[in-house]
Amino acid sequence: MSITKKYYIETFGCQMNDRDSEIMSQLMSETFAPTTSVEDADIVLVNTCSIRQKAEHKAMSLLGTLRLIKESKNDLIIGIVGCVAQQEGQKLLQRLPFVDLVMGTQSLYNLPALLADIINNKKRIVSVEQNSEFVIPPFLPEPNSGPHHKRFITIMQGCNNFCTYCVVPFTRGREISRKFSEIVTEADHLARQGVKEITLLGQNVNSYGRNSDGKQEHTFAELLEAVSHVPGLNRLRFTTSNPKDLTIDLLECFSRIDILCSHFHLPVQSGSNAILTAMNRKYSVDTYYELIEQLRRHRSDIAITTDIIVGFPGESDNDFQATYDLVEKVRYHGAYSFKYSDRPHTKSAKFDCKVPEAIKIKRLAVLQKRIDEICLERNQEYIGQALEIMVEGQSKGQNNQWNGRTTTNHIVHFTCRSALEPGQLVTIEIDEACQNSLRGHMYD
Ligand code: 5AD
Ligand code: SF4
Repeated sequence: MSITKKYYIETFGCQMNDRDSEIMSQLMSETFAPTTSVEDADIVLVNTCSIRQKAEHKAMSLLGTLRLIKESKNDLIIGIVGCVAQQEGQKLLQRLPFVDLVMGTQSLYNLPALLADIINNKKRIVSVEQNSEFVIPPFLPEPNSGPHHKRFITIMQGCNNFCTYCVVPFTRGREISRKFSEIVTEADHLARQGVKEITLLGQNVNSYGRNSDGKQEHTFAELLEAVSHVPGLNRLRFTTSNPKDLTIDLLECFSRIDILCSHFHLPVQSGSNAILTAMNRKYSVDTYYELIEQLRRHRSDIAITTDIIVGFPGESDNDFQATYDLVEKVRYHGAYSFKYSDRPHTKSAKFDCKVPEAIKIKRLAVLQKRIDEICLERNQEYIGQALEIMVEGQSKGQNNQWNGRTTTNHIVHFTCRSALEPGQLVTIEIDEACQNSLRGHMYD
C-alpha cells in the first residue's frame, strides 16, 4: 500500500508569491496531500521573498528550524522556491546541504516532475531557468485552501523598470504579459464556480500588454473592461502600479466600470524629486499629485494607499521632510513604509552616502507615527456612513461576529445573528473606527 506524502508550503512576500504558492499547491494536490503542520509534512517548500533584507532573514531562519527537523526525519524533502531561490540558484544548494530543491520563480509548472525526480532518484536539484513566454496551464485542480469567493489571477510576470533599489527584475526576470484571452477565460471559469471578486496581479500592471519589442498589443484598461463584463463578478481589483505608467484611459476606468473597487495602491517611494531621480522612478512629485487629483475626480470615494522607502542613499533631512510633507498633503488611507536596505545586483547597493541605520530608524518612526494618525482620522470619516461590505467570514471563536471588506478594502467587523455566506454583499452602518479596521451594525 502506498502512503501519500504530505506537503506544507510557507509563503513570504507579496501577493504574487501567495498566488504562486496556491498554484504549487494546486499542482501538488494531484499526487500529494496538504497538511497544515510543518512537523507532519514529508515535503516542505519555503516560498521566499528577497525584496528587503528582513524578508530574506525570515526565510533563512525558518530554514534553520527545518534543518533541525530533518536531523531526526531523514527523508524530509526541503525546497527553497521563489525569489531568493531565483536570485541565489546553485549557491544555495552548496551553502545548505540539507536542502533538496532550489526552484526559481519561472519553473513553477515543473514542480511535480522535479519532486518526482528527487523522490525516485534521490537527487538534489536546481531549476532557475528564465522563460521567454508566460503560460499558465488552464484548469489546474481547485485550490484546497483559502477563500472561495475571491481569487487572484496573475496577468504578467517580471518587471522592466529597474528602480535602482529593487531586486524584482533580477528575481522575476523581464516583463512578460499573459495572453488577453487566457486571462478572460480564467476569470470566466472562476466566476462560473462562484467567485465574486478577482484581483489582477502583476509587478507593474499598468504596462500590461506591451510586447518585448515595445509594441502595445492590448492595454490594461482594455483588460479591466473585458474582465468586468464576466457575468457573476461583483468586485474587481488590481495590484501593483507604477505612477509613471498610469494612463488617462486607466483613470477613466474608475468613472466607467462599476465593479472596479474604490482602492488604488500607488507606491510613491519618496516625496523628494532628487531621490525619485536617484531611484529611477521617472516621475516627479508634482506629476504624482496630479495623478492623485485626477483619481479623486474620477472616483470621489477612492482610498489611496502607498509604499514609501526612508533612508535611501543620499536622503538628506530636507528630502525626508519632503516625504513627510507629501504624506501630510495626500492623506493616505494607508501606507507601508520601509527602511532602505541594499539588495543584491541593484544599482543603489553601490551608491555612496548610505544613511546611517540610527537615522533610518528615527525617520521611519517619525513617518509611521504620522501615517498611523492620518489613517485613523481617515477611518473616522466613515463613522455614520452605510457601506457595502463583501462578507469574508465569521470572526474566530466569536459567536455572531462577522467580518468583511468595503470596496475601499477596509476590514469591517459587525454583529449578525443570521447565517451569511462569504462573498455575499451586505450593508453595514459604521459606528466605530480603529487603526486597522472599522466596526458597525447591519443597516436596515
Ligand atoms: N529597501 C527597502 N524597501 C524596498 N522596497 C523595495 N525594495 C526595497 C529596498 N531595497 C519596498 C518598496 C516597494 C515595496 C514592495 O518594498 O517600497 O514598493
Ligand atoms: Fe518579494 Fe518582490 Fe519576490 Fe514579491 S516579487 S516575493 S515582493 S521579491
